[in-house]
Amino acid sequence: MKNLLKLLDLSEQEILNILNLGDQLKYELKHGIAHPRLAGKALGMIFEKASTRTRVSFETGTYQLGGHALFISAQTSQIGRGEPIQDTARVLSRYLNGIMIRTFAQEEVEQLAKYSSIPIINGLTDFAHPCQVLADLMTVREYKGRLKGLKLCFIGDGNNMANSLIVGGLKVGMEVSVASPEGYEPDQQVLDFAKEHGGFTLVRDPSEAAKDADVVITDVWASMGEEQEAEKRKKAFAGYQINQKVMDAAKSDAMVQHCLPAHRGEEITADIFEAHADEIFEEAENRLHAQKAVMVLLME
Ligand code: CP
Ligand code: NVA
Repeated sequence: MKNLLKLLDLSEQEILNILNLGDQLKYELKHGIAHPRLAGKALGMIFEKASTRTRVSFETGTYQLGGHALFISAQTSQIGRGEPIQDTARVLSRYLNGIMIRTFAQEEVEQLAKYSSIPIINGLTDFAHPCQVLADLMTVREYKGRLKGLKLCFIGDGNNMANSLIVGGLKVGMEVSVASPEGYEPDQQVLDFAKEHGGFTLVRDPSEAAKDADVVITDVWASMGEEQEAEKRKKAFAGYQINQKVMDAAKSDAMVQHCLPAHRGEEITADIFEAHADEIFEEAENRLHAQKAVMVLLME
């Protein structure tokens, strides 16, 4: 593994290696065992979109590993003034030991990796959110003790989260079902992968998708960059919500995951969110541990 651009690039074993090291680093942190595995190393964090969890978990995680993380905002760097990504890549490769980037087009991340001589980590694009899904898988395994054979259900927009959950879930041996409204299905590249892989269903009805699920997941109806579509999307996604009816269709001990931020009353009801808050905030915490594992594997 040279980069983490999208889960399509990783093997099942590479995903499990990240989860295993994530578990180990979480244990070490909780038990006060220092792990300065990136001492003297620096991570650049390029943000072209907002973030709370990704920024704080990468910055703190790098610190805990003995390294240093720098926040590079597109607006206040030359990136925002149009410096080509190929040049940014070659310059930053001479200062840093790794780059995490959050941006719009997946192609930009792929180009950054192509022209960089250091590892690139995708901190969210319109296409994928691999770091989040690694944390989700880590959390599901923590609660359920395994991944293989479990049913993962995603309800809502066929967005970066849906794309990465489908690929990640299938690769680790889960059954994956998605309910999306017409016109908002997951990316065709992901659907092609899922079809070839098997174990995947795409339906319109959320309760049908959630039937006998072990984990039910959703995400916002309008992602970053889609704010101007919010009203149109509110209509299109009405009913694409994790609510009691959906949870009644899932297994009685089903867990709920949400990458956050959540919009109560839209993609999830306040009651279900609060009933599953422990699982959801453990998921948020696991961003830290899973990403530290990614950084150690790529940058050590
Ligand atoms: N889930 C997630 O990526 O959160 P942030 O947008 O706050 O980084
Ligand atoms: N799909 C959401 C995820 C946010 C973490 C977005 O891209 O805005």
